[in-house]
Amino acid sequence: MTHDGTAAGALLAEAAARLAAAGIAAPRREAAVLLAHVSGVPAGILLADRQRGIGARAAAAFRDLVARRATREPLQHLVGRWPFLDFELRVDRRALVPRQETELLAAWAIDEARARGARRVADVGTGSGCLAIALARGVPGVRVVAVDASAAALSLARENVREHGLAGRVALVRGCLVEALGPGAVDLIVANLPYVAEDEHATLEPEVRDHDPREALVAADGGFATIARLVDRAAAALAPRGALLLEFDPRQAERLRALCARRAWQDVVLRDDFSGRPRCARAVRPAEPVGAGEGDAG
Ligand SMILES: C[S@@+](CC[C@H](N)C(=O)[O-])C[C@H]1O[C@@H](n2cnc3c(N)ncnc32)[C@H](O)[C@@H]1O
Repeated sequence: MTHDGTAAGALLAEAAARLAAAGIAAPRREAAVLLAHVSGVPAGILLADRQRGIGARAAAAFRDLVARRATREPLQHLVGRWPFLDFELRVDRRALVPRQETELLAAWAIDEARARGARRVADVGTGSGCLAIALARGVPGVRVVAVDASAAALSLARENVREHGLAGRVALVRGCLVEALGPGAVDLIVANLPYVAEDEHATLEPEVRDHDPREALVAADGGFATIARLVDRAAAALAPRGALLLEFDPRQAERLRALCARRAWQDVVLRDDFSGRPRCARAVRPAEPVGAGEGDAG
């Protein structure tokens, strides 16, 4: 069936060629996502009904977005929203775009919180608020403290928390790691903190390097410093038998295991990501927290 306006198929073909030339790995899919965004027609329908007419205004807006995407502005920032588990979040330059790997951590944290009957949990380095919102949605009645050092990230997290109607159960706190939490304040801590080495930042894809906040990505000591500080300090903020769940770079797995052993964390379990490499860890609070320095035998 033919319609008024420019045919969707022609717009998509032109855009896909431009995106491919710019080095975008999935140019057809991304073109369809952008056309769906400006036209309000689902991507699947645009791909199936290539003769569907797209009005002049939507076609112009689409070409603008394609031009921006060709400069490697992230697709997620151009559409302004992105799915995480079974919900959507606003995303922009204020915080890291939530990653698929982090959905594994979120699902694990929800399972742990339910199994432990957790009443109070903390999301340390909340960014967009994705993990805090996932926990509040997935664990009935749980209260979440979402901490971040970045005021900009917290302002985005606040918008997302409000949009999900969770302002009464998710408190947003500016601070460093667990410093704002009292002793034994929470039953579970989940954290996806920066873990990219400083000298690797320049090698990241432009979408990440130039658009995600640097402080959301990079940590000292080969990317391990912030995670290590949390492993040192988290036990004090956990109730007895409370658990810490972390995401990390697969190359940090053995360092993390060794550090957890030195600090006497118990029941340490690592899980793989979609590529079969260790990406998340769960550790249970030591009976007597061992601070930095005290357990440094190795
Ligand atoms: C990798 S991003 C993760 C954001 C979000 N949790 C997610 O999974 O998409 C790390 C976040 O930790 C925050 N951050 C970095 N260092 C921190 C610290 N010392 N204390 C609290 N937050 C920190 C950053 O501002 C950033 O928002």
